[in-house]
Amino acid sequence: MNDTFLKACRGEKVEFTPVWIMRQAGRYLKEYRSVRSKADFLTMCKNPELVAEVTLQPIDILNVDAAILFSDILIPCEAMGQGLEFQENKGPILFPAIRDEETVNSLVVSDPEDTMKFVMDSIRLLRKELAGRVPLIGFAGAPFTTATYMIEGGTSKNFLFTKRMIFEAPELYKKFMNKVTATITEYLKAQISAGAQAIQIFDTWGGIFSPRDFREYALKYVQDIIRDLKEWQDKENLAQVPIIYFVGETAGLLEEIRTSGADVYGVDWRINMDDAIKRLGDNPVVQGNLDPLALFLPPDKIEVRVKDILGRSASARGHIFNLGHGVVPQTDPEHVIALVEMVHKFSRTIQ
Ligand code: CP3
Repeated sequence: MNDTFLKACRGEKVEFTPVWIMRQAGRYLKEYRSVRSKADFLTMCKNPELVAEVTLQPIDILNVDAAILFSDILIPCEAMGQGLEFQENKGPILFPAIRDEETVNSLVVSDPEDTMKFVMDSIRLLRKELAGRVPLIGFAGAPFTTATYMIEGGTSKNFLFTKRMIFEAPELYKKFMNKVTATITEYLKAQISAGAQAIQIFDTWGGIFSPRDFREYALKYVQDIIRDLKEWQDKENLAQVPIIYFVGETAGLLEEIRTSGADVYGVDWRINMDDAIKRLGDNPVVQGNLDPLALFLPPDKIEVRVKDILGRSASARGHIFNLGHGVVPQTDPEHVIALVEMVHKFSRTIQ
């Protein structure tokens, strides 16, 4: 089995730098588009056979060192009772938007094996089909990032309704966030029980905050989840699965992020990796940090950036190569294949 990814997460010695790509199963692959042409996105997410098929595509095509469950961070919103649709070229729509006491009270914290059983069935099927080839990463949105979609009713530019709830009705926000946090905690426990071998928590929109507000309104709930997951695994005598915390716009928040309790920190491309490592302190394990749009460079120019990131990551206890955010649909898959090859090749010579 290729367990290089898990070893790197634990800060153990590895023969090469493992690599996977955020959104590695997606529209830039014609194999994905072919499955997607027959089913809409949510239907795919709810069908374990289709989930397994598209999750495995990048393992075969790219030769990455980890699989990430094909799903979406908005699945738990539906499980809490909110309507969810993905409209073609418009992104997600959630209804009704959660903006007052009544809508917050209408949300339920349910058993994920009831309301999101298809996710756990997908994980169980994938572990069988992967047969140890590479580890399987499970994931969830962080409570704050998930909450922005629930409050705004979809994607947002300035997060007006979210910040208004935070500043005008902080007690309501807290009550709402405690429900979201409980849902995500139980969801991640169910994923680990079903066989997820690592967990990534996506806090894509964490960077819209000042550091003090990030701590109070976003990070606190992530700390609660990570503490709860670790205590629960100890109590159940389970081996601890590595927890990766990814925050978008990382650079202003590294001193906060390092108190999250995560085992691995995602780093975007807006900061040099060696600076991020210094500011995270305590010999961290890091993941990242190539600009996803750098994949539009010709491969010989991508190479320069790969070597630079590998060099700058050498001071970390562990490094998992990745993009600083998801691969975009217009990307040439050949460049992604070349990227994975380069990471494997150059990291062997550096170490
Ligand atoms: O990384 C992976 O390959 C695993 C699958 C995955 C998806 N979404 C599939 C997806 C993961 C981990 C996510 C996370 C996710 N979803 C995040 C956090 C990370 C990030 O990218 O910021 C967020 C904010 C979402 C919410 C979301 N999902 C939006 C805003 C959209 C619409 C925009 C878009 O890209 O179409 C989605 C849809 C979505 N999620 C697609 C995929 C492959 C595209 C669906 C399609 O085929 O049309």
